[in-house]
Amino acid sequence: MASVYLQSAASQAQCFRLTQLHKDKSLKYFPCEDFGTEAVEVVPGQLVKLIGVKTDHASFLSWFRISQVSRHFPRAFWCTGCVQLTSIKGGFAYDALLAVLQQETLQAQPVRLTCFPRKMEQAIGEKLVAGGWFLDPHSYQTVLAVVEVDGQVEWGLYPRHLHYLQQPDEPSRLPAGCSHAVGKLAEAVDAIGWDMSQVKLAVDLGAAPGSWTSFMAKSAKRVLAVDPASMDDSLLALHNVVHLQTRAPEDETRRSGKNVWNAGWVMHLALLGLFGFWPIQDVKERF
Ligand SMILES: C[S@@+](CC[C@H](N)C(=O)[O-])C[C@H]1O[C@@H](n2cnc3c(N)ncnc32)[C@H](O)[C@@H]1O
Repeated sequence: MASVYLQSAASQAQCFRLTQLHKDKSLKYFPCEDFGTEAVEVVPGQLVKLIGVKTDHASFLSWFRISQVSRHFPRAFWCTGCVQLTSIKGGFAYDALLAVLQQETLQAQPVRLTCFPRKMEQAIGEKLVAGGWFLDPHSYQTVLAVVEVDGQVEWGLYPRHLHYLQQPDEPSRLPAGCSHAVGKLAEAVDAIGWDMSQVKLAVDLGAAPGSWTSFMAKSAKRVLAVDPASMDDSLLALHNVVHLQTRAPEDETRRSGKNVWNAGWVMHLALLGLFGFWPIQDVKERF
């Protein structure tokens, strides 16, 4: 059984959201109970602990690498050992941890040390080197992950291929200029386990410049993007995207005096389009 710590990027809300998404077992955000019986925000806004992970390290990683979670949590620590530090004035002494680590037989050197909080890297790194460890963050063969929360340290040693490293040069998944708020849609689709390839027609109301359209067009059969503003050119070139460059009518809403945006008319058009009775020639040809 392992504990996995996930360190969040800047957004504070992500940690709390992750604990909630883990709690709701009707969601498909985590594959199954083997990916932790509970997710706890152990350092507010920074660190979430997945308790009782039963799946093996490689299986965890192959899910994590493609999951929405890794978009918001760029660092993952896989821990299998635990040590309680002794408190000293102004902090903790690392002697107990170093004593345990010195007993470990390293399969291969050099070692990459990765710690939470980061300042620990210097504090224990120097002592490990003095004790004969060869540390090198580039040519490493083994990873030593160490997480300290309120004097309790959890740690793990594992080979390089099991270390999660977010690729800084990963190309953007969206057309240039599109909002990255699409992460919310991707997260929702992931959480409910929705198979978007079953979607015959997605209607994106207020679609420009098109990040949500771009996301849906990857799997839905057709996407109708409604917006008076321009869409990104690369999206208009897609065979399954149609841009209805208009403002969804608000007349009915105004007449009724209610301050809500009436999207019914657009939905009606979309359904007509779906069943082949589209009134706008251009759109009919495209569909
Ligand atoms: C925040 S942007 C949407 C961003 C978009 N979802 C994306 O992923 O790139 C809001 C858009 O709503 C559009 N909009 C506002 N009122 C509208 C209406 N009545 N009908 C259609 N589009 C509308 C605006 O033109 C604007 O492009």
